[in-house]
Amino acid sequence: MSDVTVVGLGVMGSALAGALLRGGHAVTVWNRTAARAEGLAGQGASVAADLASAVAASPVAIVCIDGYDAARALFDAPAVRAHLTGRVLVQLSTGTPQEARDTEAWALQAGAEYLDGAILAYPDQIGAADTVILVAGRHATFAPVEGLLRRLAGGLSFVGDQVGAASALDCASLAFIFGAYLGAFHGARICEAEGLRVDAFGGMMAELMPVVGTEVKQMSERIQQDRFGDTHSALRTYAAAAVRMVRQAADARIDGEFPAYAAGALGKGVDAGLGDEDLAAMIKVLRAAR
Ligand SMILES: NC(=O)c1ccc[n+]([C@@H]2O[C@H](COP(=O)([O-])OP(=O)(O)OC[C@H]3O[C@@H](n4cnc5c(N)ncnc54)[C@H](OP(=O)(O)O)[C@@H]3O)[C@@H](O)[C@H]2O)c1
Repeated sequence: MSDVTVVGLGVMGSALAGALLRGGHAVTVWNRTAARAEGLAGQGASVAADLASAVAASPVAIVCIDGYDAARALFDAPAVRAHLTGRVLVQLSTGTPQEARDTEAWALQAGAEYLDGAILAYPDQIGAADTVILVAGRHATFAPVEGLLRRLAGGLSFVGDQVGAASALDCASLAFIFGAYLGAFHGARICEAEGLRVDAFGGMMAELMPVVGTEVKQMSERIQQDRFGDTHSALRTYAAAAVRMVRQAADARIDGEFPAYAAGALGKGVDAGLGDEDLAAMIKVLRAAR
C-alpha cells in the first residue's frame, strides 16, 4: 500500500505528487495520459496501470483534474467505485460550492469519506510554508489526513464542515482579485496615456496593499455587523472619484468600460440614499439586486 494516491498529473497534480514524495510519503499516481507520470516515476512514485488499481493502492486519493464532471465520470466507473469504500477522497480540482455538495453526497453514497479543497496557489508554490489550501468537510475525516495535506501547503486551513465552504471562499477571493487586477489594467492604461511608468505604478500599489487589506477587513466587519454609519470614507466620495475617472478616460481617449462600471455601481448607492454612509453600504445595493 502507498500512503496516498494522486489522480491527475497536470501541472498542479504533478506539483502535489512531487511535494508528497519530497515529504517522504509513498505515492501512487495515475493520469489519463500515461506519459505525464514518467517524471514522477523517476522521483519514486508508483505508477498505477489504471485508475481502479490507483484507488485501491492507498487509503487516501487526492484528485486534481479539470473539473468535477470529469472526476465524477472517472470515479463512477464500476471498477473504480468498487474500491472507494472506506477510502478518503480529497477533491482539489477547482469547482463550485454546489459541485462540492453534490460530490460529497455521491462519495458518501459510494462508501467513501470526502473532503473538498481549494488551492489558492500556483504549482511552483506547492509545498511552501506560506502556501494556502482551504479544506472543508467533516472534521473527523480531516484530522487523520491533516499532516499529509500539510505537506502540500504550510498554510493549510480547515474552513469548517460546510463542504462547499472551500470553493465558496475560493470564488469570493477570486472576485476580489479579479476586481483588483482589472482595475490595475485600467490604471496601467492611465499611466500609459499620461506618459508615466507602469512598473512604478505597480510598485506603488504593492506598497499600498497592506492599507487596502486593512480597509477590506474593516468593511467586511461593518457588513457582518450591518454597521454603516460613522465613517471616514463616505460612499459619495468614492462615487465622485469614479465620475472623475470616467472624465479622465474620455479626456485621454482610453477605454472607459472599467470607470463606467465603477461609476454606475457607486451611483446606484448614491441614488439609493446611501451617499453619507460608509462605502461598505454598497452591500445593500447588491443585496437588493439579489
Ligand atoms: N495551475 C494552477 O495554477 C492551478 C491553481 C489552482 C487550482 N488549479 C486547479 O487544478 C486543477 C488541474 O489544473 P492544472 O493546472 O493541473 O491543469 P492541466 O495542467 O491542464 O492538467 C489538467 C489535468 O486534468 C486531466 N483531465 C482533464 N480532463 C480529463 C478527463 N475528462 N478525464 C481525465 N483526466 C482529465 C488532464 O489529464 P491529461 O493529462 O490526460 O490531459 C490533466 O491531468 C484544475 O481544477 C485547476 O483549476 C490549478
